[in-house]
Amino acid sequence: MNDTSAPIGVFDSGLGGLTVLKEIITLMPAEHTVYFGDTGRTPYGSKSPETIIKYALQIARFLQSQHIKMLVIACNTASARAYKAVCDLMKIPVVEVITPGAQAAVQGTINRKIGVIGTRATIESDVYVNAIRHFAGPDMQIIQQACPLFVSLAEEGWWHHAVTRSIADVYLQALKQAQVDTLVLGCTHYPLLKDVIAQSAGSDVTLVDAAHRVSERVLDVLKTHRLMNQSDVQGHHVFYTSDSIEYFQKLGSLFMDRTIDTVERIDIEQY
Ligand code: DGL
Repeated sequence: MNDTSAPIGVFDSGLGGLTVLKEIITLMPAEHTVYFGDTGRTPYGSKSPETIIKYALQIARFLQSQHIKMLVIACNTASARAYKAVCDLMKIPVVEVITPGAQAAVQGTINRKIGVIGTRATIESDVYVNAIRHFAGPDMQIIQQACPLFVSLAEEGWWHHAVTRSIADVYLQALKQAQVDTLVLGCTHYPLLKDVIAQSAGSDVTLVDAAHRVSERVLDVLKTHRLMNQSDVQGHHVFYTSDSIEYFQKLGSLFMDRTIDTVERIDIEQY
């Protein structure tokens, strides 16, 4: 297998990264992919930086053993805490999910008030604040809110549930008071709750779902490194998990909006 026909590796703490994978497959149908969802150790959002780095490096080593040509960290929490460590380990291009979202928010805001929601680890890392300031300068107003319950609600499939709406109303209160006009969905699980978050945020607020931007970034990087698969044949997609295969298949198929037939369970602690 030469470099161009090697797969793209994608990982998340669980199933949320499938929202990014879906965009990658749509934009680059010829690319092969290998996805790892760490459902056995999710959530990452409540874990320490050291633990998140350890987990991300184990996954990167596992995906390296699958001979990937590029790695996508399709998890905001792992991108926030472990991007540098993963880059130091890998000799292939690594794409994170923070920069594309921050850039889209800066381009989208009119009143220069941006809200960011994410896991506790992502919010505490200030990674979005730094990335937004990098593109926009220091005068941009950024209001952050950790929404830890959203991950469970997304994985529970309660995407349109009244309970989700009530929780969103509580989480988004301060952001609404601050009158943000742009809200970054800083967690790959949150696009699944998009309808409820949009209703709660109100029609004046534009949501930034970075998944598509991330896929465009992946395409750019592949082009730059001359790694694009030029085949006319559709790529194949392989899935690995650290926990129940049935759970991954059932919920993952919903996240991807297509049937996931084959999932393999691996012992990630070995890597
Ligand atoms: N999908 C992860 C992210 O984008 C969050 C889920 C978790 O807490 O593990 O941050």
